[in-house]
Amino acid sequence: MKGMVFTELIEMIEARFSLELAESIIEACALPSGGAYTAIGTYDHAELVAIVVELAERTGAEIPQLIHAFGGHLFATFLKDRPALFAQMGGTFALLEHLDGTVHVEVRKLYPDAELPRFHAERRSPTHLALTYTSERGFADLAHGLIDASIAHYHEPITVTSEDLSAGRRAHVRFDLHHA
Ligand code: HEM
Repeated sequence: MKGMVFTELIEMIEARFSLELAESIIEACALPSGGAYTAIGTYDHAELVAIVVELAERTGAEIPQLIHAFGGHLFATFLKDRPALFAQMGGTFALLEHLDGTVHVEVRKLYPDAELPRFHAERRSPTHLALTYTSERGFADLAHGLIDASIAHYHEPITVTSEDLSAGRRAHVRFDLHHA
């Protein structure tokens, strides 16, 4: 997983909790990388999971909620880095429909070793988008956080429900988005 994802997670812990907590979590996890992440490096995604598990233990928050919140934080970062992309997409349905074909394709060009999920979007009606997430990393809650942040960003009356198709592994999940 790209170092940028790690640096953003640590930044979120610093902002929401404290610098001391972020440092102490990195130390407690005894990570193979030592926690010295660079935005351009690539690290084992198990390190990300270890940090989130430790954060949940220290704060009493639930792991899925923390990963979801991290999705919101990442969305803000993407928005800051790529304002034109979000203006061009104009809404959540368009953004999600272009994830696999355009957005993550661009990411792959920048980082050939990026570990990206697969998304399949299907417009079931003008007001219903079904989106399936597939990734062995099991970060469907991250996807959910990104989707919710997108809906908030575009101020859309969209409700989201989800169904885990991978027996709770969060690796294969269908999201149903309904526009009022
Ligand atoms: C609502 C829109 C988006 C959703 C739902 C989404 C979803 C995800 C998820 C769940 C992952 C984690 C990897 C995995 O699960 O296997 C991921 C990784 C990533 N995404 Fe997206 N994404 C969105 C938009 C974007 C945008 C706009 C960008 C940047 C322009 C972006 C860049 C990346 C990068 C750099 C990674 C990390 C790849 C790696 O660590 O190797 N994503 N995305």
